[in-house]
Amino acid sequence: MANLHELTQRFLSVYGESHEQISIFHAPGRVNLIGEHTDYNGGYVFPAALTFGTTLLIRKRDDNQLGLASTNFDEHKHLPISPIVYDEADDWMNYPKGIVNELQQRGTVFENGYDLLFHGEIPNGAGLSSSASIEVVTAYGLLTMAGYPIDTVQIALLSQKSENEFNGVQCGIMDQFAVANGKKDHAILLMCDTLEYDLVPFNSGDYQLVIGNTNKRRGLVDSKYNERRSQCEQAVQDLKAAFPELTLLGQLSLEDFNANKHLIKDEIVRKRAEHVVEEIDRVLQSMKVLQTNDLAAFGQLMNASHDSLRDLYEVTGDELDAMVAAARQVKGVLGSRMTGAGFGGCTVSLVHKDSIETFKSEVGRNYTAATGLTPDFYVCTIGNGVERLV
Ligand code: GLA
Repeated sequence: MANLHELTQRFLSVYGESHEQISIFHAPGRVNLIGEHTDYNGGYVFPAALTFGTTLLIRKRDDNQLGLASTNFDEHKHLPISPIVYDEADDWMNYPKGIVNELQQRGTVFENGYDLLFHGEIPNGAGLSSSASIEVVTAYGLLTMAGYPIDTVQIALLSQKSENEFNGVQCGIMDQFAVANGKKDHAILLMCDTLEYDLVPFNSGDYQLVIGNTNKRRGLVDSKYNERRSQCEQAVQDLKAAFPELTLLGQLSLEDFNANKHLIKDEIVRKRAEHVVEEIDRVLQSMKVLQTNDLAAFGQLMNASHDSLRDLYEVTGDELDAMVAAARQVKGVLGSRMTGAGFGGCTVSLVHKDSIETFKSEVGRNYTAATGLTPDFYVCTIGNGVERLV
């Protein structure tokens, strides 16, 4: 957790003194435990909020300017709070700008401007949802400051819309939803088609979740992500021959899918669809085994998820595969898989608490030997969704 006193000093050094109070908000990053590339197919996901994320300090201004600054970057600027226009040169600022724009599109009226200082603790491009964290904390903070009621499901939806439309990234709902609705020591079972969800206590006993950052920059992730999305849409089109009402792969049971998958003409498209339908089933199996605290069985499902993302969905790549292979060799590891969109980013492993130091050194050594890259590891505690701190 960031040092709030230091952040307040930093805020004052950027924006100066004022008679208005500074309010402080926090939104986490997220890790997805299982259910990958299922959200935009209307299936189940099982993410959890992290304890680190984005802290946002906000103070009301007397005029209609919006101040944007971050402790992670040098540049800061003021712009009119309306109208908001996307500008590539604004880089990360396009995330909060998109939210300010989306809120106003939905009828939020800002009677005055605000100064915002962001402090991000999520490594950039690691696939732990740094952008969703910025979006959700901005929406929550500004709505609170302007005196509007808070609905964290709506905040997730408007944040996703902003990322889709303002920032042009075709993400699903999982990241924003987890960041907005997470709860300490719980994972979220979310049905992405209906947005029904359950907070499931995640009792990992003697085991801990360890995130491994491959530190591989995720090149071309957007175009490959969009390609996977359209392959899933293609599979739906083909399956409509048997299910005319079908709009999303997640609406099919594994049995119905298996009995009809021959209708998908393209072999690659069929593999993609197979991953999606089986992965949704793995999330449901996970709920069963976690009910009896069978962590070994959950670890097996994590492994099966990664193998399917590698062989059928083809979104892992050498670095994630190398890290997962190294993790699975360590005694005390129940399961290991990539998490997030893939093509680089992070893995998540379920590791016995006595094996964590060995895990870090052995996986680190073998991963570096295989890829030449130096990884980072974070032992993960499940934290709360977006909240006000001060
Ligand atoms: C990214 C997207 C999510 C989800 C995952 C894959 O994190 O933002 O919506 O699709 O990839 O599960």
